[in-house]
Amino acid sequence: MTAPDRDRSARRKVLRTLLDSGALAPDWVPSFEAVPRSAFLPDLMWPFGMDTGTSISVSRSDDSDTWYEYADADVPVVTQWDDGAHAGTEPGRLSTSSASMPSVVARMLRDLDVRPGARVLEIGTGTGWNAALLSHRLGAANVVTVEVDAVVAEAARARLAAVGLHPEVVIGDGLLGHPDGAPYDRIIATVGIRDLPYAWVQQVRPGGLIVAPWGTRYSNVDCVVRLVVAEDGQSASGTFTGAVEFMKARSQRYRVDQAAYLPHGFPGGAVTTVTNLTAADLGLDDRLRHPFAAVSGLLAGGCTLLADRRGPAVSAWLYSLTDLSWAAAVLTDGQAESTVYESGPRRLWGELSRAHQWWVEAGRPDPTCFGLTVTADTTAAWFHASGNALPLPLSEHGGSSGKPVRISRG
Ligand SMILES: C[S@@+](CC[C@H](N)C(=O)[O-])C[C@H]1O[C@@H](n2cnc3c(N)ncnc32)[C@H](O)[C@@H]1O
Repeated sequence: MTAPDRDRSARRKVLRTLLDSGALAPDWVPSFEAVPRSAFLPDLMWPFGMDTGTSISVSRSDDSDTWYEYADADVPVVTQWDDGAHAGTEPGRLSTSSASMPSVVARMLRDLDVRPGARVLEIGTGTGWNAALLSHRLGAANVVTVEVDAVVAEAARARLAAVGLHPEVVIGDGLLGHPDGAPYDRIIATVGIRDLPYAWVQQVRPGGLIVAPWGTRYSNVDCVVRLVVAEDGQSASGTFTGAVEFMKARSQRYRVDQAAYLPHGFPGGAVTTVTNLTAADLGLDDRLRHPFAAVSGLLAGGCTLLADRRGPAVSAWLYSLTDLSWAAAVLTDGQAESTVYESGPRRLWGELSRAHQWWVEAGRPDPTCFGLTVTADTTAAWFHASGNALPLPLSEHGGSSGKPVRISRG
């Protein structure tokens, strides 16, 4: 089978699977058929194995069959490492641009609920594939896409032009939106957001939608939020549609300096308690599909979780974002109880345990039971309906403005 034949049959199979699973809305099928992801991928690319958690190098000039196999598969494909500083064929340290999984692209476009003629601003051009799908469906004159990395943006512009599509590609910080083209009917972000910019609310018309992967700094998990801009244009509110994991907006990446929490080594002056929570209870091995793992960033606020599995044991560390409190436990499969070490004014494992208890008593809700309201001053997470409070006070510090971002409950 030649590469183009293989391309066509594999693509048809993936599209059928996406349609059958409900990820791909029927009105998007013509665009997915007309605009192949392979037209937006570079010769050298790094498909990411969802099961292995690692990327491999694949070159079209060396092995075109394998290259097309991955181009058409439902996997994310990394196209840039380390903001472009990485050279060579092996994967780099941090993936910084990619073509997202086709199922995720399809789901987010379904959530966007657009009709031909709608004006859309995309944040995170990446390869340009999503902008191409939007342009095919809505007309390129209705699509603006913003990319922070000039090299990535130029490559996307060239690939879009090669398939005859010419949306406006803007090089800049998408967290500012693109006021020159406002108001938009929709904004879609294809990059993970920790502090949702109010500029986006201001640039979407009343009744319009913002679809974005949003999360707290508890973990790398994002939940896709679908916000409707209020009639007075002052706020936006809506529920989450599911858990995903995107690379984070450049200025909102977050890395804990673990050494700062343990200046005198482990366990320092930590106190010990016992937990009966297990790695399975917390979803530490399955962060996107486990409903507690997907929502725990909303419930256990103001801290970051780092978990590392070695054989039957998972080391779980919690670091406070409001002071230097920390907690740690080694959770071994099949073991009913584990020792917990906690240090500092906050008892972080206690907070996580109470969040888990609340979640169990609330009927183990998944992300679709929660939502977000964004105003000029606050981002507030809620449960079921915007009047319903969540169990714990939650605050984080961050944001590109350096301004404290309050995540309040209810
Ligand atoms: C997952 S990729 C986007 C995938 C893309 N939509 C596609 O179809 O291939 C995320 C992109 O967001 C870009 N990005 C990160 N921070 C950004 C920001 N503040 N503004 C605009 N783009 C940003 C990254 O450089 C990267 O190219």
